[in-house]
Amino acid sequence: MKSELHVSPDSESLACFARDWLVQSIQNTLASQSATFTLALSGGSTPRRLYQLLAELPEKTIDWKRVWLLWGDERNVAPEHADSNYRMVKENLLDHVAIPADNILSIPDPGGEPELAAEQYETLLRERLPSSPSGWPQVNCVLLGLGDDVHTASLFPQTTALAETSRWAVANHVPQLGCWRITLTAPLINAAGQVAFLLSGHSKQAALEKLWHAPRNPTLYPAQLIHPSNGQLWFLADEAAVASLALPQSVSRQST
Ligand code: 6PG
Repeated sequence: MKSELHVSPDSESLACFARDWLVQSIQNTLASQSATFTLALSGGSTPRRLYQLLAELPEKTIDWKRVWLLWGDERNVAPEHADSNYRMVKENLLDHVAIPADNILSIPDPGGEPELAAEQYETLLRERLPSSPSGWPQVNCVLLGLGDDVHTASLFPQTTALAETSRWAVANHVPQLGCWRITLTAPLINAAGQVAFLLSGHSKQAALEKLWHAPRNPTLYPAQLIHPSNGQLWFLADEAAVASLALPQSVSRQST
């Protein structure tokens, strides 16, 4: 299946497109008698505006009682820390929508011992998410960002998490940052129904060039690990992020 690229004129129209794209996906899934929609949220700065726009939707647009949220990754900090991805989502989304606390599957004690935090997160996900015959959970949608070093989630170049083939979530030491992260693993992400990279700004061009055109080397370019087994891969970008980049054969550009 080809990956889909949708290009919006600027960061605000990208956030609006991503909001409408996500609302449509949630509504379609819930209308098809699926009991819930499971969404893995990205951290970083790009998705912040998307989360604000989701929070501003008219109340009945999304049935939040049937949406379960998890995190693609988390920094090894307390949930109230300025660097916390949980805190960023809380401030921009959770505090503004009627989502039951039980639907928020955030990393337990993210600032504690990282291996324990990852184990507790995996236990939580295994308890709460239906898993398919493949043994992987059926996450409906995973939102991802892309770092300048072509990392995604907290799958950083030359780190141990890249080689994980059975765990759903792991602790990952990132020497280049001098810190620990907790991250979903590539095989879990690849089992999702939809995976969408959110890409905004000129700084994404170089990373996209490597992701799309560098020789396959996921150790150096971890985002190359992301190719959903049966799901659809999306690149939701603004013009600045893709500019004059050539599209690989595997990516088709949607008409805007
Ligand atoms: C994190 C993210 C990380 C992020 C990319 C892009 O915890 O920082 O999960 O993978 O998505 O680094 O970050 P920006 O959106 O800030 O460019």
